[in-house]
Amino acid sequence: MESSAKKKKSNIILALDLGVDRPQRLLTRSLRILNATHEHLCALKLNRQAVLPLGLFNGVQKIINKAKELDLLTIMDAKINDVGNTNRAIAEYYYKAGFDAVIASPFVGWNEGLQPVFEVAQKMNRGVIVLVYMSHKGAVEGYGQLVQDSNTDQLVPQYRIFAERALKWNADGAVVGATYPEKIREIQAVLKGKVAIYSPGVGVQGGDAESAVRAGADYLIVGRSIVEAEDPERKAKQIRDAAWQGLKTQRQKDRVRK
Ligand code: XMP
Repeated sequence: MESSAKKKKSNIILALDLGVDRPQRLLTRSLRILNATHEHLCALKLNRQAVLPLGLFNGVQKIINKAKELDLLTIMDAKINDVGNTNRAIAEYYYKAGFDAVIASPFVGWNEGLQPVFEVAQKMNRGVIVLVYMSHKGAVEGYGQLVQDSNTDQLVPQYRIFAERALKWNADGAVVGATYPEKIREIQAVLKGKVAIYSPGVGVQGGDAESAVRAGADYLIVGRSIVEAEDPERKAKQIRDAAWQGLKTQRQKDRVRK
């Protein structure tokens, strides 16, 4: 992802969520938006909004192939969250369809939870990105709850433990909502650049691109602000420019501090 972002001079990941529509129209619209915006992106993210109507080895694979043709990485936002055996099969299907990475939920734990996902990812040379703090308001009820750390017996926020797990499991990324720059900062202090931060929630959910990257987000996941814009290409460029500028300023500050 780092080399893709460098090459494309963008850290924007497009969430291609087009709502409920007829499958053929969804596919046509998806390809049209991708064609219009790809120059301002480093990757594409899909979720079950696309897989359910289009089918994984049908329309979704056509979108993945198009993304690859346009030199974009692809992420499946599956939020994998079941027992290990099921998780392994889910991840393997997504990787076989061509996705470069999947998003998984750490609430299921490692043993008979996410371990099989990391195993299949390693075997197939793909990525696993874990949720650490979600972008929506209710995130505080789960990711923000105080829990007892089994190592220290101290009460700590759930997201802190998830950030430590992302490090320990050698995850390829951690999802932290762009809507909470202070959480990005706090989680970045735990991850120390060893696990990249992916931040959804820019625009419609209230997050600001520049604030998120200045707080430490490496990549921004943007959906409705781009796909529902009158001119998706212009909007993608606008968000990319703000994020890229923020990233450059932040990196300069980091260099001076070092
Ligand atoms: P919008 O339209 O709000 O879309 O820009 C955001 C996209 O990202 C997904 N999303 C998340 N995915 N953790 C995730 O893994 C999150 O905290 C999160 N918040 C939003 C959402 O499904 C949509 O595709």
